[in-house]
Amino acid sequence: MCGIVGFTGTAQAAPILLDGLRRLEYRGYDSAGVAVADAGRIEMVKASGSVANLAGKTSDGAALSGTCGIAHTRWATHGAPTDTNAHPHLSEHGLFAVVHNGIIENFAALRAELEAGGIAFRSETDTEVVAHLLEKYYDGDFKRAVMRTAARLEGSYVLGVLCAREPGRLFCVKEAGPLILGLGVGENYFASDVTALVARTKNVVYMDDGELAELTPERVTVYDRTGREIAKDVSHVVWNVEAAEKGGYEHFMLKEIMEQPRAVKSTIEPRIRGGEIDLGETGLTAGELGDIDKIIITGCGSAYHAAVVGKYVIESLCRIPVEAELASELRYRDAIIDGRTLLIAVSQSGETADTIAAMRECMARGAKCLAIVNVVGSTIARLAGGVLYTRAGPEIAVATTKGYTTQLAALYLFAVWCAEKLGRLDEARYSELVSGLRALPSLAQRAIDLNLHVRYLAERWHGQENLFFIGRNMDYAAAMEGSLKLKEISYIHSEAYAAGELKHGTIALIDEKRLVVALCCQERLFDKMVSNIQEVKARGAKVLGLAIEGDRRIFAEADDVLYSPGCEQLFAALPEIIPLQLFAYYVARENGCAIDKPRNLAKSVTVE
Ligand code: G6P
Repeated sequence: MCGIVGFTGTAQAAPILLDGLRRLEYRGYDSAGVAVADAGRIEMVKASGSVANLAGKTSDGAALSGTCGIAHTRWATHGAPTDTNAHPHLSEHGLFAVVHNGIIENFAALRAELEAGGIAFRSETDTEVVAHLLEKYYDGDFKRAVMRTAARLEGSYVLGVLCAREPGRLFCVKEAGPLILGLGVGENYFASDVTALVARTKNVVYMDDGELAELTPERVTVYDRTGREIAKDVSHVVWNVEAAEKGGYEHFMLKEIMEQPRAVKSTIEPRIRGGEIDLGETGLTAGELGDIDKIIITGCGSAYHAAVVGKYVIESLCRIPVEAELASELRYRDAIIDGRTLLIAVSQSGETADTIAAMRECMARGAKCLAIVNVVGSTIARLAGGVLYTRAGPEIAVATTKGYTTQLAALYLFAVWCAEKLGRLDEARYSELVSGLRALPSLAQRAIDLNLHVRYLAERWHGQENLFFIGRNMDYAAAMEGSLKLKEISYIHSEAYAAGELKHGTIALIDEKRLVVALCCQERLFDKMVSNIQEVKARGAKVLGLAIEGDRRIFAEADDVLYSPGCEQLFAALPEIIPLQLFAYYVARENGCAIDKPRNLAKSVTVE
């Protein structure tokens, strides 16, 4: 979704704002814009396309003087990605500039009202109403104008506001959607997330819904909805700048694939002490776990795929019924939920609108909620009763890789910990599973090392128009994720099918042009998969098999082979996805796709 940045200090604002935008560009890249206040007026430059276009138009920001400003990178919702629709938006007489992330649901009514009052709109965006309302309500009191404007808005929004007549002062408002404040020395910032700021400050304040903040170079003041000043905690970010940069890799996605051994290790290792898993941070006691009679795991996109894997593993170890459900479905379902239900909300960003809404719905019905989240201080982390942080570090590529595998690692940890607390494991099995968890970082590395030939396979298979991923049980869950990776970055149509379902319709699409990726990493289901492979081969399809390292049976069945290292069967989905991530990456690269920023996609979907 859109990314916003604000800066006020003594340095020239525009180069700092552009640097922040570059770091936020993964959030949206349809268009970008910057506005600075200088000598009583607002100077603004906007450009469709990437932040590089905006940098070109402004000599990297040097062309704009002024030490206070706001900037935006857009992911279009209302109106095409043109220069005019790009943010910031100016009020009628240029007194206010505003940047916005989210959707203003009552914008049509507000626009009609403002147009009836004689205001001519320049853009097709919902945001422009905000700029006009600010000017309408401004009587010399900046804060009051912002509060009166915010009170008129319905929907989800984060706003950054600049006023020509208020030198050095900025306001930002949060009503659903991510917003943090960055505290510097003689300068202050706001931004959609910490990646925009880590190069300049590590001291941040996480804003909550209904709050607004006033920034000057010397001071940051946070107010509640009624305008009363409130105290906020300052957090210290542990990420460094390098973690948010490419470090010599051609793409963030490849860098993040390669970081998985370390990310999985950071997620698992600190939680195992003396051979015991300690998840005290979840806030769940053995007694509370014993009271749970159902678990629902929810999320969107890859986080949902992690939920599906989690279902298999938790049910198998804990013997508690588990449902995995898409958050966008769960939020509108009349689900059977009560105080004995545990909801596990899975999200890399912690800001996904549907996941937040599903949590609110389930929590209102009494469910306990545990969040598995990567971004510290995010909305989901703060909403949940307990949090198990994945420690993937910043993930920049839109297609998640280390975000997903660390979600699996966290779900596995939870499953083993919970099973042990419930007395479902004998000592020997428990220590076997703990060893299995500890082995995962090196198995992730082995999965990378075993599949370096995948780039040559991608050369062979990149011309496919349609392909299928098939698997059973956890391999089916991994097939869903492998298929999503391929389609989102290479734009090749692909579908994941439970292998046993093929003959109920989909096999009609199999012919000699088709490539079928067959996941065969579950020993007990290997023979079943061989039958499915033979079914598609009989229709002329080519097969790319994914099997456990050393399993020679696959050579008799598949045209080409990817490998996953042998491991505890319950944890197989983690190393197994890595060759499929690499396959998707190299196919997209062969096809010349914009790998880190695929068309139409956003890293963090903060609107419904
Ligand atoms: C977007 C991203 C996906 C991600 C999904 C859920 O669609 O492109 O990679 O899996 O949102 O995001 P979350 O931050 O909640 O994990």
